[in-house]
Amino acid sequence: MRRVASVFARRALVAPLVLSQALRHQGGQQIHRGDIRAELRAPQGSRPAVPARGGQQQQQQEGGEAPEFTPVKPQNSKYVQAETDAATGIATLKMGRAPVNSLSLEFFTEFNQWLLWLRSDEAVKSVIITSAIPLVFSAGLDINELHQPQPERMAKFWTAFQEMWLILNSFPKPLIAAINGNSPAGGCIISLACDFRVMARSPKAAPEKLFRIGLNETKLGLVAPPWVMAGYSYVLGHRRAERMLQLGETPTADEALMIGLVDSVVEEDQVYATAVKEASRFMAVPNQARWMSRDMVRQEVTAFLRSEEERDYDTQFFMQMVNSEEVQKSIGGYLARLSKAAAKK
Ligand SMILES: *[C@@H]1O[C@H](CO)[C@@H](O)[C@H](O)[C@H]1NC(C)=O
Repeated sequence: MRRVASVFARRALVAPLVLSQALRHQGGQQIHRGDIRAELRAPQGSRPAVPARGGQQQQQQEGGEAPEFTPVKPQNSKYVQAETDAATGIATLKMGRAPVNSLSLEFFTEFNQWLLWLRSDEAVKSVIITSAIPLVFSAGLDINELHQPQPERMAKFWTAFQEMWLILNSFPKPLIAAINGNSPAGGCIISLACDFRVMARSPKAAPEKLFRIGLNETKLGLVAPPWVMAGYSYVLGHRRAERMLQLGETPTADEALMIGLVDSVVEEDQVYATAVKEASRFMAVPNQARWMSRDMVRQEVTAFLRSEEERDYDTQFFMQMVNSEEVQKSIGGYLARLSKAAAKK
């Protein structure tokens, strides 16, 4: 872990530089074209063209033609389903990887493909992200991906996770998280990238079992990636985010509402209807202005993943951390506890 810590310290020195670069790119140009894979860029023509300083169009400065990317509608997905209501233009993206929507490489691959498709589909005006599985929105990263990982798969897994974050945070249409169950770690991360979070208080059948949300990676000996921390701090403020990250806290829905981690708390059976209502509110605003406003404010949230180099660095950093003996021991122990608990049931 010591090596990891020193890498982290070095990253901290780099951060102000990244941030100042981010500020220079202000103006709806959150993701720098040319730095990023074609399929992660905004669809052609949908991102506002922003005059650069000196009056030139940004487009001209970028130079080099980017290859065209045409999203295709995913077929035969196993873990993710989507449906669009033609009357409202609201698409519902449902995560359905039993038993707890844990986020694996295959899950991310399907999820990202769907997002890219919904982003480009003109019939879609807004997307609600929810779970098809009762009681859980998502339990977070699939621990099996982190236990004795194969370097090649691990790198792909992490890249897909980064891509999800970039796609969500640059999504050109309103995104509503309908959090219909527990939402620790990666579940919380997905919702953080949305424009509005509505959460169920508890299961209807067991109102005393309050649902929880929050980043509790530290409890596993893991550190959330810096770009997620930026998103957490963005929502909660730095001081509160820091303390909650350290302690790995997972507040109840009502507690989360008080600190702004979610925007609305309702009964389980009202989550989806509330999400639809909120989607309509966002859709009523001229989209270009709405999207640009979000883009400008969220600069810091994607700053750590701006270039290929930074994404590689982030992947290497995470792989090094996960492969440390301490973390592997902790993950192994957690998996053993999970399988024991499953055997008891
Ligand atoms: C994180 O929080 C969730 C929900 O409270 C819980 O089920 C899970 O066990 C926690 N993870 C760790 C490693 O403690």
